[in-house]
Amino acid sequence: MYKIAKKRVLNPTVTMMDIEAPLVAKKGKAGQFIILRVDKDGERIPLTIAGCDVENGTVKIIFQVVGATTMALNQKNEGDYIEDFVGPLGCPTKTDGVKKVCIVGGGVGCAIALPVAQEFHKLGAEVHSIVGFRNKDLVILEDEFKACSDKLTIMTDDGSYGRHGVVTLPLKEALESGEKYDEVIAIGPVIMMKFVVATTRPFNVPTTVSMNPIMIDGTGMCGGCRLTVGGKTKFACVDGPDFNGFEVDFDEAMERSTMYSDFERHEREETCNLFRQEVK
Ligand SMILES: Cc1cc2nc3c(=O)[nH]c(=O)nc-3n(C[C@H](O)[C@H](O)[C@H](O)COP(=O)(O)OP(=O)(O)OC[C@H]3O[C@@H](n4cnc5c(N)ncnc54)[C@H](O)[C@@H]3O)c2cc1C
Ligand code: FES
Repeated sequence: MYKIAKKRVLNPTVTMMDIEAPLVAKKGKAGQFIILRVDKDGERIPLTIAGCDVENGTVKIIFQVVGATTMALNQKNEGDYIEDFVGPLGCPTKTDGVKKVCIVGGGVGCAIALPVAQEFHKLGAEVHSIVGFRNKDLVILEDEFKACSDKLTIMTDDGSYGRHGVVTLPLKEALESGEKYDEVIAIGPVIMMKFVVATTRPFNVPTTVSMNPIMIDGTGMCGGCRLTVGGKTKFACVDGPDFNGFEVDFDEAMERSTMYSDFERHEREETCNLFRQEVK
């Protein structure tokens, strides 16, 4: 069992937790993830390692409440326990030789992008971050991004905070104005990553995307997380989650991500009803 050492609500649908898991904290690196189960009958879900505190033996996770399991996790409080917390899984983000990087995060993808930006900053690279949200109320981690970015651009779809528009707008402007990035790293909804790649491709800037397909075992055995990359089958849990964006078949990834929609809707409704009965 793994204790929730700290819980902080970042916005109405996004929560941060520090989980006591000293062995994971010792080994976890930016770009890797854990798989947890909230209780013994729960499903496994992958969440990115948003930070490790080796001294306190805790691992930070930041999650958006989207369905049954994230709802059940969000109902837990400081001092409560969760059943399983396995990791670190996946490959760490590659940082070798990168002196100037542009990190592009969308929505809760910013939670995944933050430790990557922090790692590049720690290594002395120049970090430009572009983060996008639907509106002002959903903006998260602004101070944390400010602290590790040489330049931070916040975008909102409705213009209620930062600049009005999508993340590809300032990215295109930067590339057109002659910014020379060694790498662009995009983390967010698959559709956003597809458009980031469409933006960087004409400039031939190496572009890495962090893929988030359905994962079950997280060990390369079940095939649930398979993707086509460069015409070959890859497993995001062991070969990724980072991949060369120019080689990813985004359309196939989007199609596969909706495979369990009906089942997920049913589970979400069940969890919601149980929760409502509990709090009455
Ligand atoms: C490597 C990786 C890292 C991730 N990191 C984060 C993170 O740091 N923060 C965060 O908020 N989200 C992250 N996600 C997404 C997160 O795993 C899903 O939001 C979560 O599984 C939803 O589960 P649910 O039961 O609450 O919702 P459901 O209603 O079951 O599903 C809602 C949506 O979540 C996704 N999802 C559901 N089950 C899984 C699964 N087993 N594996 C992958 N995706 C699933 C699907 O897109 C689905 O449509 C990550 C996904 C991957 C693959
Ligand atoms: S989650 Fe099973 S192969 Fe990747």
